[in-house]
Amino acid sequence: MNGIHGGAVLTRLHFEQAMGIESVPPVAPPPPASGGTEEPRRPVSGRGDAAPSAAPAPAGVDLFTPAITPGAGEPDKAARWKALEAEVQSCKKCRLHAGRTNAVFGCGNKQARLLFVGEGPGFDEDQQGVPFVGRAGQLLNKIIAAMGLKREEVYICNVVKCRPPENRTPADDEVLACSRYLYEQIELVAPSVIVTLGAPATKTLLQTRQGIMSMRGKWHNFRGIPLMPTYHPAFVLRQYTQEVRSAVWEDMKQVMEKLKQS
Ligand code: URA
Repeated sequence: MNGIHGGAVLTRLHFEQAMGIESVPPVAPPPPASGGTEEPRRPVSGRGDAAPSAAPAPAGVDLFTPAITPGAGEPDKAARWKALEAEVQSCKKCRLHAGRTNAVFGCGNKQARLLFVGEGPGFDEDQQGVPFVGRAGQLLNKIIAAMGLKREEVYICNVVKCRPPENRTPADDEVLACSRYLYEQIELVAPSVIVTLGAPATKTLLQTRQGIMSMRGKWHNFRGIPLMPTYHPAFVLRQYTQEVRSAVWEDMKQVMEKLKQS
């Protein structure tokens, strides 16, 4: 990824300006592998970092069925992208299709080294058919810029492609219905690093019910790809504390480092 520059201090100031951090805590070494703090609450509806769901998956539903499309090695990726997007645009596999204005497939560089995964479209995304274009998206843009990257250089998509009513957290069966699309997008992009934004994306890809607070800031692995969970931008906007913003910055610093190494 050519956009990452070496001016670490400048980059950090950039980021902190973008995130509205006024005083700069001392530079900390990368968090130890066992780091992590306690998980903040999120509202019942809205985006971001849900506390671990107490509700079990409906009987017989395997939340985490690996669903790689056959023919993974075939050269014609363009055709696969086209077919996949067409499938998403006409998808009626779960109840969410009924309320959509647009399915929100994903956007950005289909050969990106960095891939962000959010939760699901909100109002603006549903209207425009593009992920992360509302307030949370504006913050994500700032985060990406502070990393020295352009939005067009990364790939951005969501766990579910249709907007859940009232921006509620997607239900397990909705995630399951949609997850093949996400898996295939990841396989097609083949990024060097994945960043999951918030609990639903993290839980979906890491097959865990652990909370985001204990997962973020540490490297995980999705099918051989390093995966860094961080807070969802919508959560950062709701919980606009220096601690939360700094946590995101620490996570993104690790991502930048990993991209440099890979
Ligand atoms: N929140 C998400 O998780 N995804 C979007 O596309 C927008 C907001």
